[in-house]
Amino acid sequence: MSIVEKFVTMDYGPAPEDPREALAWLDKYKRRFGHFINGAFRAPLESKYFDTTDPSTGEKLAEVAQGSGADIDAAVQAARAALPVWQSLTPHARARYLYALARQIQKHSRRLAVLETLDNGKPIRESRDIDIPLVARHFYYHAGWAQLLAQEFPGYEACGVVGQIIPWNFPLLMLAWKIAPALATGNTVVLKPAEFTPLTALAFAEICQEIDLPAGVVNIVTGDGHTGEALVVHPNVDKIAFTGSTEVGRAIRKATASSHKKLSLELGGKSPFIIFEDADLDSAVEGLVDGIWFNQGQVCCAGSRLLMQESIAEPLIAKICDRMNTLRVGLPLDKSIDIGAIIARVQLDRIQRLVDQGVAEGATCWQPSIPMPSRGLYFPPTLLSNVHPTSIVAQQEIFGPVLAAMTFRTPNEAVELANNTAYGLAACVWSESINVSLHIASQLKAGVVWVNCTNLFDASCGFGGYRESGYGREGGREGLQEYLEPTWFKHAPQLHPRPLAIDQPPQQITESAADSSTPPIDRTVKLFIAGKQTRPDSGYSVSVHAADGRLLGEAPLGNRKDIRNAVEAARKATAWPKSTAHTHAQVLYYLAENLSQRREEIANRLSDVVGKQQAESEVNASIERIFTYAAWADKYEGSIHNPPFRNVTLAMNEPIGTVGILCPAEVPLLGFISAVMPAIAVGNTVIAGPSEIYPLITADLYQLFESSDLPAGTVNIVTGRPSELLKTLAEHDDLDALWCFADAPTCATAKALSTGNLKQVFTNEGRQIDWFNPHPSAARFFLQHATQIKNIWVPYGE
Ligand code: NAI
Repeated sequence: MSIVEKFVTMDYGPAPEDPREALAWLDKYKRRFGHFINGAFRAPLESKYFDTTDPSTGEKLAEVAQGSGADIDAAVQAARAALPVWQSLTPHARARYLYALARQIQKHSRRLAVLETLDNGKPIRESRDIDIPLVARHFYYHAGWAQLLAQEFPGYEACGVVGQIIPWNFPLLMLAWKIAPALATGNTVVLKPAEFTPLTALAFAEICQEIDLPAGVVNIVTGDGHTGEALVVHPNVDKIAFTGSTEVGRAIRKATASSHKKLSLELGGKSPFIIFEDADLDSAVEGLVDGIWFNQGQVCCAGSRLLMQESIAEPLIAKICDRMNTLRVGLPLDKSIDIGAIIARVQLDRIQRLVDQGVAEGATCWQPSIPMPSRGLYFPPTLLSNVHPTSIVAQQEIFGPVLAAMTFRTPNEAVELANNTAYGLAACVWSESINVSLHIASQLKAGVVWVNCTNLFDASCGFGGYRESGYGREGGREGLQEYLEPTWFKHAPQLHPRPLAIDQPPQQITESAADSSTPPIDRTVKLFIAGKQTRPDSGYSVSVHAADGRLLGEAPLGNRKDIRNAVEAARKATAWPKSTAHTHAQVLYYLAENLSQRREEIANRLSDVVGKQQAESEVNASIERIFTYAAWADKYEGSIHNPPFRNVTLAMNEPIGTVGILCPAEVPLLGFISAVMPAIAVGNTVIAGPSEIYPLITADLYQLFESSDLPAGTVNIVTGRPSELLKTLAEHDDLDALWCFADAPTCATAKALSTGNLKQVFTNEGRQIDWFNPHPSAARFFLQHATQIKNIWVPYGE
């Protein structure tokens, strides 16, 4: 036998990792763990425990505490009490603690890796070489941000006590993604690990003790979904950060709606893995192995939908099958294993059920003939081909080692198929043409795009989704924003609701409206949809009164149908999002110019409602505000991250899409301008509900838009009852974001009703915003809400 033949036929021998140190660590705690609260482990108040097991063998590893509402309360109290202690430290002192956490994790890295693999079932190769090094990297990186906080984020402060809930697929890594930025920005934390994988979080608790982290800064309460729920609804928590299923993300959005809690959600995905005919197919196949079989496919950003250009489908599938034949499934502690165990029986059953359903819907299932372990929870690597884009396996997150393959012919078709999902977490693009790759990347609805690479993560690069994959970013400068709030915004006083002038009984539009006994109606105001002045579908109008009670006129009573038409118009208005930043700036300047020319007549009309002085101030401030956003339009740039690999990561600010805006009541013109201009400055299209006390401003606004080259459909205005407009906007699944500037109950309604498609909601949290004298950072704050960051990873070198 030649050396080459020997090399090819040579099999792997067993290479087991020694688990003794990790098991000894469990023994040190007598295999029973309480919660970590206020710097010490303590027994659960209701004395309930549950088992955590090794999914590769089914053996029990330890008992952990089932957290009750009382345990959560104790942890939140500890975190609250620790807040002044933690915040009184200098940024440098906090940086030292984060640095110490990183060092301590490195010192115990092997034990943590083995513990992770025992509890989760992932291959030791992954926990040892990917998870734990990234955990340490996160604490190092954020030690740096702790040091730089004051100079880099002036005018911002920590949210306060943060509740964090994490899943089981990357237990310690998700903990690091959550805790490192929270501590770096001066928050204290209560974290709930997933019920299947609590052990490394408890090992981390011990590390906090070892480095003498002040008591209460990090608290860890174990338990199931009920424990998570208790944390979510706790009134003394200022922010919730969640990673997990979209379904639970929705429940959390609803549960936090009536509070001021800031919320970030990192949810599921159904990420496309797009391979063009000019790609390096061997590299793409290696990427695919990582993309879908990493961590048994239990990865939110798994490249679970393979989209192949038709011309290369056949040879590509052959290469994929060849490679699948070499994958090794087995004991996760074996160092030469590629695919370990599935987390739990329920997950294994779910994977099988979805695969069966996919086959029933016409997919062809192929699995390699490779040895499978005889016990434990395992699923073979699986390829489903001939998958129809509407099939359940092309639409639902399987969260297992299952790839669904489809073909496309043209780049446009690839983009269409890729975006044909409710999710938007990640995507891969493989092509040797950088032009094609970046062109495709820019059109994908995904928060992360890997070009000719896959599953790269780093603390310096933001990670997070579009659409139903959630909102907020973790990592990078953008991730810190999730744990900070501008001081001017956080401490603004509450807004006191004023009577709703427009919520009067409707009147049928008739000739008698011009009756001599009523004051003259100076103009007919219509809705503004798709660049046209439109009568309301309802055929009703409502009276609008001056401050002294005089009837000023009538505003159309828009209804659901008008909102739907407006959303359709805004969706179709692609000219604006596609225009350059320079064009956005030019059109905004032109708007300001036209408003300036009509300042007197607009101020005169407005003065009937808000008085002469406010009216003049509103017009002047509006002109300046438009200039501000015109100035920003071509300067609100992204950045380039610098991860420790041979690549650059382009962090691009992209518009969110179509935004519904309920404008503030108290400043009819300036409020509208202050809310709508930042949204359109960066390329969104808008459906706006104007001030409820003076909806007649609509006529002035559309005349301005009509004379300023703003493409039809970019801004649509629908007047009507605010409560009805808000409900329709919030529940509309074709709207990407909802902004609402109103009193606290209205803001809560906006959040509670927006769970359908998990649209991003931005409100004033019922606080009073000084629209006349905004804080210098306010424009950036609004622009941040008008955009979402896409991180595009581009490798370089041979
Ligand atoms: P899950 O979303 O139920 O659990 C994630 C975390 O949320 C766990 O810590 C859990 O205890 C907690 N939780 C559950 N219900 C809660 C509630 N009402 N309030 C607050 N916290 C709550 O995910 P699960 O059941 O573990 O997995 C189900 C499916 O979710 C998977 O098959 C997969 O498709 C998806 N998933 C997605 C993840 C991601 O990273 N995007 C991670 C884990 C699961």
